[in-house]
Amino acid sequence: MTAVLETRGISVSYGGVSALDHVDVQVAEGQLVGLIGPNGAGKTTWIDAVCGLARSTGETWLGGSNITALTPAARARAGLGRTWQAAELFEDLTVRENLAVAADRRPMWRLVWEALTGAESDPPGIESTLDLLGIGDLGDVAADALTQGQRKLVGVARALAPGPRVVCLDEPAAGLDTAESGLLGQRLRRVVETGVAMLLVDHDMGLILDVCDWVVVLEFGRVIASGPPEAVRRDPKVVEAYLGGAAEESRAALGASAIGTEV
Ligand SMILES: Nc1ncnc2c1ncn2[C@@H]1O[C@H](COP(=O)(O)OP(=O)(O)OP(=O)(O)O)[C@@H](O)[C@H]1O
Ligand SMILES: [Mg+2]
Repeated sequence: MTAVLETRGISVSYGGVSALDHVDVQVAEGQLVGLIGPNGAGKTTWIDAVCGLARSTGETWLGGSNITALTPAARARAGLGRTWQAAELFEDLTVRENLAVAADRRPMWRLVWEALTGAESDPPGIESTLDLLGIGDLGDVAADALTQGQRKLVGVARALAPGPRVVCLDEPAAGLDTAESGLLGQRLRRVVETGVAMLLVDHDMGLILDVCDWVVVLEFGRVIASGPPEAVRRDPKVVEAYLGGAAEESRAALGASAIGTEV
């Protein structure tokens, strides 16, 4: 299978601290890949490195091209999208306007010209993106009137509006209840079925195991396991990474049903 997004031996260190250590991850065309691991494992750092925001060694490939030397803006233009772990919406703007700000790739001269001549046109893709995520009726609603679940969907829609080939989502389900998280998962699957590849970082293990085709597990900046969800959740190294650290939070994240009865 062709990889849309791939890191080859990518490493990042902050000061003397190694945050990522020779990490290989592949996101194949049409795939939803989960990237999981305990707090501080390096998940956000991986997304930052891929987007060109964290200084890294190793290589990043997008759609068969080596993009390691490209700026973050050039990587975005090449079709790489992302969301942020603590993403905020523009509260005073409507949902449609929030997407328009992200999707607008018109050059500055054109925006000025359109403003002067009154020949404004909406950037393409906004309505179809809202419909795809099942929030087509929210276009005119102000961001500050949205529920938490709707906000997350708008955050994902904002990353999709420019039409990326692959999008990395950093904890889009944080703060959602089980029902909202399940709905988000269904919508993400729907997006992947349209041909956009996706990498999903989340602590909601139910969501990851339900919707992902492939799961990669990081611990202390290293890949400790990767494979189909069923195999990864039973992997002793994964169970140890989540439970061995004695993190109650991690125990809750994996969930008794998710890790089976062997633990
Ligand atoms: N800007 C930074 N400066 C210094 N250290 C950093 C910086 N960003 C991250 N780190 C460190 O790098 C390591 C990986 O952090 P990262 O945020 O990637 O983890 P994470 O897997 O996303 O965790 P979480 O699940 O809590 O979001 C941690 O040890 C963190 O403290
Ligand atoms: Mg993070």
